[in-house]
Amino acid sequence: MKFKGIIFDLDGVLVHTDKLHYRAWKKIADARGISFNEEMNNLLRGVSRMESLEIILRNYHGPALSEDEKLAIAEEKNSYYKEELKAMTPADVTEEVREALSALKAAGMKVAIGSSSKNTKFILKQVGLYRLFDAVSDGTNIRKSKPDPEVFLKAAEYISLAPSECLVVEDAVAGIEAAKSGGMKAAGIGDAASYEKTDYRLATFANLKDIVL
Ligand code: BG6
Ligand code: MG
Repeated sequence: MKFKGIIFDLDGVLVHTDKLHYRAWKKIADARGISFNEEMNNLLRGVSRMESLEIILRNYHGPALSEDEKLAIAEEKNSYYKEELKAMTPADVTEEVREALSALKAAGMKVAIGSSSKNTKFILKQVGLYRLFDAVSDGTNIRKSKPDPEVFLKAAEYISLAPSECLVVEDAVAGIEAAKSGGMKAAGIGDAASYEKTDYRLATFANLKDIVL
């Protein structure tokens, strides 16, 4: 086998929470007269909550906001987002994803999560995937978010593998950058599939088995 472990990004790879993030940020933006659309939402993929807010605030032209005010806005966004996450169920994970994960595990591969989200464990539990993973590295155990490799290096450490033994699966350019600077190979899905630094382009999630088994 080419790899001993696979590290999965969560949002946009295993579950499609992008639209939920978008709706929550859109409420924040609309209430403050900030222009924000789905194209801009794509810039927030893989980026931490506070960094996402800074990107959104590039279009804010009101009075300067203090750090405390920014923290309160991020908290408000998260409360809208969490309300939507509560409605997620195992049906939000496709059969294709479940089958691929089972096949990888059956082949003896270690599987871990590498996500910038502080809601990672909540989401994994909602969709019934939490117990399947050997380790979870997420927004709660890192100091720097993607494109910094910290979240993936921690995931590799948690499953006791060297970065070179791991493949990262990502939908975000920031995530591919993080994997590459951490010394890992990267498979890209969605937007990340056409990124120049992506090692393996995944047309569908099922293609993953062809790459690693
Ligand atoms: C990433 C998402 O997985 O998590 C980003 O791609 C999001 O869009 C980031 O901003 C942080 O998420 P959370 O759940 O901690 O606000
Ligand atoms: Mg993602």
